Amino acid sequence: MLKAAIGCISLLLIISLPSIECRFMDGINSVNGGTNCATCTILLGIVDHLAIVYNESAAQALEHLCSFLPDDYKIYCKTAVDFLGPIIIDGFIKGDNPDVICHGLTLCSDDPGQAKCRIYPSKSTAADAENALKLRERHPDLSLHLSKIKICQIPGIAEICKILNNAFNNHIPAVDLDNDKFGTEPTLRGSSWRGKDCNDFSSQVYPGAQSVDGDSVIDHNCNGIYGLDSTTGQPWETEFCNDTQRLGIAVLGDSISAHFHLPEQWLDAKQLSTAVFQHLTFILENELDWPQLSASTGHLNVSWPNIQGQTRSLYARLFDLDHCNHRDYQNIAVNGARSGSMTDIMKALARHPKNDVPLLVIYSLVGNDVCNGHPDTIDHMTTVAEMTQNVLTTLQYLDTVLPKGSHVLTTGLANGSFLYALLHDRIHPFGRVGPPVSYPQIYDYLSCLQISPCNGWMTSNGTLRDLTTQRAVELSAAIKNVSFTYQPAQYDIDYLDFPFDEVIQEWIAQGGEPWQLIESVDGFHINQYGHALVSDVLWSWLQKNRPQWIPPMNPHNADIERVFKDQGGYD
Ligand SMILES: *[C@@H]1O[C@H](CO)[C@@H](O)[C@H](O)[C@H]1NC(C)=O
Ligand SMILES: *[C@@H]1O[C@H](CO)[C@@H](O)[C@H](O)[C@H]1NC(C)=O
Ligand SMILES: *[C@@H]1O[C@H](CO)[C@@H](O)[C@H](O)[C@H]1NC(C)=O
Ligand SMILES: *[C@@H]1O[C@H](CO)[C@@H](O)[C@H](O)[C@H]1NC(C)=O
Ligand SMILES: *[C@@H]1O[C@H](CO)[C@@H](O)[C@H](O)[C@H]1NC(C)=O
Ligand SMILES: *[C@@H]1O[C@H](CO)[C@@H](O)[C@H](O)[C@H]1NC(C)=O
Repeated sequence: MLKAAIGCISLLLIISLPSIECRFMDGINSVNGGTNCATCTILLGIVDHLAIVYNESAAQALEHLCSFLPDDYKIYCKTAVDFLGPIIIDGFIKGDNPDVICHGLTLCSDDPGQAKCRIYPSKSTAADAENALKLRERHPDLSLHLSKIKICQIPGIAEICKILNNAFNNHIPAVDLDNDKFGTEPTLRGSSWRGKDCNDFSSQVYPGAQSVDGDSVIDHNCNGIYGLDSTTGQPWETEFCNDTQRLGIAVLGDSISAHFHLPEQWLDAKQLSTAVFQHLTFILENELDWPQLSASTGHLNVSWPNIQGQTRSLYARLFDLDHCNHRDYQNIAVNGARSGSMTDIMKALARHPKNDVPLLVIYSLVGNDVCNGHPDTIDHMTTVAEMTQNVLTTLQYLDTVLPKGSHVLTTGLANGSFLYALLHDRIHPFGRVGPPVSYPQIYDYLSCLQISPCNGWMTSNGTLRDLTTQRAVELSAAIKNVSFTYQPAQYDIDYLDFPFDEVIQEWIAQGGEPWQLIESVDGFHINQYGHALVSDVLWSWLQKNRPQWIPPMNPHNADIERVFKDQGGYD
């Protein structure tokens, strides 16, 4: 049943690919079919591309697409193909493009008073509308078919969708028996996001806790160091960790900090294979985020076909300095988070001011306060006054949970004007087969459907991009101002502008081209190379500006490796 629900959700997610930044399953105020339309058009575009790449019929290409998916999902894919296949195939045979077929399927519409949204250039919108109508008329049972494909509305599955939706919205581990906000499963806000709980039956045991009695029996802080050294009779934790300055890391952030990444192989017919979908469930249960590889809390290198590049992170550096910090990381970042929603999300952070060791907190909301999908996008941006209040609320809250000796680093918003500057003349992965599709075409298509993650920056309107950047600069100034005027009791604080410039310069110095740092599918987030570089730049900044925040090297690291090997690993 759980698998079924995940299949259901995954369909929804796959189906809402481009607008994933919009909150999960929330009502989206779209027009012209919105997400359903974009999904239909992109999926049928992929079918079209497969037919070209493999010289096969549309019918074969549809089956081919399903065949790439893991077994659980194949069933849903086949069900959908059984319902819709005849119409889709008929459309392709008649030479209709995906825009036309999706209008025929009524998943796209031309709402009155709205612009007409198309990915494929149209010779005649009137002829296209005519063809869509004809397609519908040849399949009068269509509306019946369409009423059957809403899997998430089936009783039973609907309930489980709701449970999972709650887990996604609470930002705490779905499986957490002792309610200490640390879990044992990797996904669903588990150990990919926060160090693994080494005892899910005791709320006194979790990463970041202070050791108790030298952890001579129980590993209270889950760093894998416990028990007695039989030659000295001393607890190992006392011998190896007593003199060190423990420091955990947490990030309060958005999809950039969570490391949103939609594999481009899923949209590129030439790269589709069963291998690229092998970890589909894992990827979806992590909300299409990869916190385990992120700049702040990355702790793994993976060799999956969905990701290229290595992991370097602030956490990995704190661990390298002192292995006693093992597993002390928390990624409290949520796709779509902005300063206002963070005043709620922040409560998912787990730290006790007395029982736990100090924490380095990165507060980094780089875009959503100016990004939204509304046509009157500027009216929906956070104001300076709201930003000031939101940041203050979060900083005050941190004073109630952080142990004395903690540090907080706030960042400004990114300059999203870069995105257009870097990508406007490049071809989107979706347009690598068939008619080329540029980033501005994709941006404008999403804006047209009112499902763009960021109308202000993902637009070919230069005036609008400038206005959006201007507001971002004002909001960054507000964050900086609050950071420097608030007087924290438990921690010290500093601010830096989001260092995208430095990251780009560093990448160029290494021989790269700046566009290579951007996620190819969404054209909006930084990718794995970007994350590793952001961590390099942040770490250098700390070394230069806040050297006193960086704990000294633990001379016992080699001893810890000798006695405790990988300290229990991460999963
Ligand atoms: C594509 O398939 C058709 C019929 O199946 C065949 O006649 C044609 O030669 C093929 N084209 C290529 C380039 O393989
Ligand atoms: C560990 O540190 C505590 C507090 O600094 C000190 O009282 C204790 O003697 C130390 N123990 C060892 C074995 O160094
Ligand atoms: C990933 O691999 C690279 C190269 O081997 C290494 O430098 C880096 O520390 C690794 N990162 C983690 C988090 O293990
Ligand atoms: C933002 O980036 C754009 C494009 O690279 C640049 O022209 C502009 O000067 C930048 N603005 C700020 C405030 O950094
Ligand atoms: C570009 O955006 C600005 C600011 O929102 C708006 O006033 C202007 O009409 C837009 N231009 C076009 C061509 O849409
Ligand atoms: C900075 O914050 C203080 C206190 O909240 C406020 O009085 C002042 O106007 C702010 N300055 C700027 C430049 O925003």
